[in-house]
Amino acid sequence: MTPVPDPGWAGRTEIDHATTVSANRTWWDDQAAAYHEEHGDFLGDAGFVWGPEGWTEAELDLLQLRPGHRVLELGGGAGQCARWVVGVHPEVQIVSTDLSGGMLAVGRTLNARHGMPLPLAQCDATGLPFAEASFDRVFTAYGAVPFVADSARLMREVARVLRPGGRFVFATTHPIRWAFPDVPGPEGLTATMSYFDRTPYAEVARSGAVTYAEHHRTLGDRIRELVEAGMDLLDLVEPEWPARNEATWGGWSPVRGRLLPGTAIFVAERRDRARGITPG
Ligand SMILES: C[S@@+](CC[C@H](N)C(=O)[O-])C[C@H]1O[C@@H](n2cnc3c(N)ncnc32)[C@H](O)[C@@H]1O
Repeated sequence: MTPVPDPGWAGRTEIDHATTVSANRTWWDDQAAAYHEEHGDFLGDAGFVWGPEGWTEAELDLLQLRPGHRVLELGGGAGQCARWVVGVHPEVQIVSTDLSGGMLAVGRTLNARHGMPLPLAQCDATGLPFAEASFDRVFTAYGAVPFVADSARLMREVARVLRPGGRFVFATTHPIRWAFPDVPGPEGLTATMSYFDRTPYAEVARSGAVTYAEHHRTLGDRIRELVEAGMDLLDLVEPEWPARNEATWGGWSPVRGRLLPGTAIFVAERRDRARGITPG
């Protein structure tokens, strides 16, 4: 959740799929430069950070990448994570995707700056332009998942493009955060909203146009959507706030991070539906 860009209205209201996609595409197009101005150093042009806590894939190894893996990044923004993968695992094939042409344009600039021809493609994560079972790994660090109205559909799309035994790892806002004001200071430590209220958060301009939307699922909802899509949950990582990190990112801060989880990282594996089991 972010500050409202103009003196419109912000709060919890129902927002459908199409309105969500359109609002968020425009929002991320408009904010692409500012986002990278603010967070670029923290992310690194070719860095793989799972969330505001600052834990990296080099430390956590959640993707378990192996030579020959075909890898898809969803909501990759400028593709920093995928660029890290290219640098550290040159023997995997990877494509980074995002809804926003503005974010991908920043990605092309970073590609040119580093002489790295990372493939970038524009798509909505709830309608992936890839064949069935075409990837060994799918991942996203805070992309797409919290920004779609129908996350069950996103999970089904991921299961479709993953091969049986393939892995999906996604980091998103920890669901408990939806019960608290989204501010970094002590006032963000008192629960004021129901954790069980799935009404999305929206920003609406004075014209009435929705300009931004985020959607809440409880932990149980997220696990249920994965399982119903044909995936098994292998791990649920709740990264603790490390003492080394004094940075604030929106409502994520050392003050809150030392007391409350801010990020949830789901590690899931595509079941072999034909056999009803997950291959080893
Ligand atoms: C918080 S940014 C994260 C970007 C990148 N993973 C990073 O760590 O900087 C969220 C990204 O999700 C993308 N996004 C939002 N809705 C999406 C959707 N329906 N499909 C794909 N990407 C989407 C946005 O365009 C944005 O680039």
